[in-house]
Amino acid sequence: MKTTGAWKLNVKDFLIMSGSRQRPHLKRPVWIIVLVTFVIIFLITAYVYPPTSSAACYIFSSRDCTLYNQPPTFPSRELSDDETISQVVIREILKTPPIQSKNSKIAFLFLTPGTLPFEALWAKFFHGHEDRFSVYVHASREKPVHTSHYFMGRDIHSEKCLLRSSYKMQVVWGKISMVDAERRLLAHALLDPDNQQFVLLSDSCVPLHNFEYVYNYLMLTNVSFIDCFVDLGPHGTGRYSEHMMPEVEKNNFRKGSQWFSVKRQHAVIVMADSLYYTKFRLYCKPNMDGRNCYADEHYLPTFLNMIDPGGIANRSVTYVDWSEGKWHPRSFRAQDITFEFLKNLTSIDNSVHFTSDPKRRVITGPCMWNTMKRPCYLFARKFFPETLDRLMIHFSNYTTV
Ligand SMILES: *[C@@H]1O[C@H](CO)[C@@H](O)[C@H](O)[C@H]1NC(C)=O
Ligand SMILES: *[C@@H]1O[C@H](CO)[C@@H](O)[C@H](O)[C@H]1NC(C)=O
Ligand SMILES: *[C@@H]1O[C@H](CO)[C@@H](O)[C@H](O)[C@H]1NC(C)=O
Ligand SMILES: *[C@@H]1O[C@H](CO)[C@@H](O)[C@H](O)[C@H]1NC(C)=O
Repeated sequence: MKTTGAWKLNVKDFLIMSGSRQRPHLKRPVWIIVLVTFVIIFLITAYVYPPTSSAACYIFSSRDCTLYNQPPTFPSRELSDDETISQVVIREILKTPPIQSKNSKIAFLFLTPGTLPFEALWAKFFHGHEDRFSVYVHASREKPVHTSHYFMGRDIHSEKCLLRSSYKMQVVWGKISMVDAERRLLAHALLDPDNQQFVLLSDSCVPLHNFEYVYNYLMLTNVSFIDCFVDLGPHGTGRYSEHMMPEVEKNNFRKGSQWFSVKRQHAVIVMADSLYYTKFRLYCKPNMDGRNCYADEHYLPTFLNMIDPGGIANRSVTYVDWSEGKWHPRSFRAQDITFEFLKNLTSIDNSVHFTSDPKRRVITGPCMWNTMKRPCYLFARKFFPETLDRLMIHFSNYTTV
């Protein structure tokens, strides 16, 4: 924090110094000759010393720069200091190859109001894979009562808070406090260098495949599974506020379910971001300027699509049923839980996005995994607690590939 501040100051000082420097009172022709000379020297230099770094590639060349590790696309307008800092940090993190941990683990991040109804099911899922996962629980309303040893002692307490929100955490659906809770979970999970993938789950989520399948699905790919699509209707781009300009333009605005699985690189970038986060904290909230914007549905899809579009799969690995077109997705009851129903969920291989535009367009597409068509979903929501018994009965059958 301190170093960034100091560095920022230096850039500002530099700009102020160069701006306030006394201009020599040259007559116009001399001034133009000097300028033209500089431009010529610049062009000759660029020609004689061809660019060798990605930065130079962007400054000097109109040629294809994709050689340089697919850097984020930079806007052509002049960037503010904060944006420059942000771009530099993001680009460096994206360039860093993933750490090859000997004992790579998946971090399961549970975001819940209180007690988790499906701990017994998750315990079945985790059993036998002890060194390949870690569990973190963020409970926002009441202290959870744990029944499985995989969850005991894994609560994140608000007093241990790492991030800016040192007040007691009140997680309100749709507000930035939801994003804050996600960031806290990520921060705690990043402390363990073995964690390579970070999956966000809710209290109503259940696993759809066995551990081995989930582990390979998430570990053997280079993308993060962030849900991301364009919805030009009132529940999509209609929530955008011009106040997000210039950093976030209207055509950058994306929507997606908050239930992500992100790779470590992206988790670190989310920790490092304050510029875009602040835009959403200030200008994407319920009941603002006659709109209801929900930061948890827009911040990550918009941000990650802007900085690393090829690095996200644009779909979530958590199934949810929006087909009823209601305000909330369908919640499953005990009578819904049959082997056939669960098997159906595990085999869906097309993703569906419902938009809110007047035509109610539905965007569908195949679920690709490393260029192959594969089942879309590893987890599913929303299940009532009463479904536990039947899920337990069917678990070993429906998760068998
Ligand atoms: C992931 O990236 C690494 C290095 O960037 C590459 O060697 C590997 O083949 C990629 N894996 C997949 C599945 O694309
Ligand atoms: C996700 O969508 C963006 C465009 O919004 C696209 O550039 C990118 O290739 C997509 N990602 C994948 C993995 O297909
Ligand atoms: C499973 O999928 C098949 C084919 O899509 C469908 O006909 C059937 O009704 C589904 N069953 C359940 C229980 O969802
Ligand atoms: C699970 O599968 C086995 C073998 O196919 C079968 O005998 C058993 O009845 C199934 N269990 C349930 C609960 O469907």
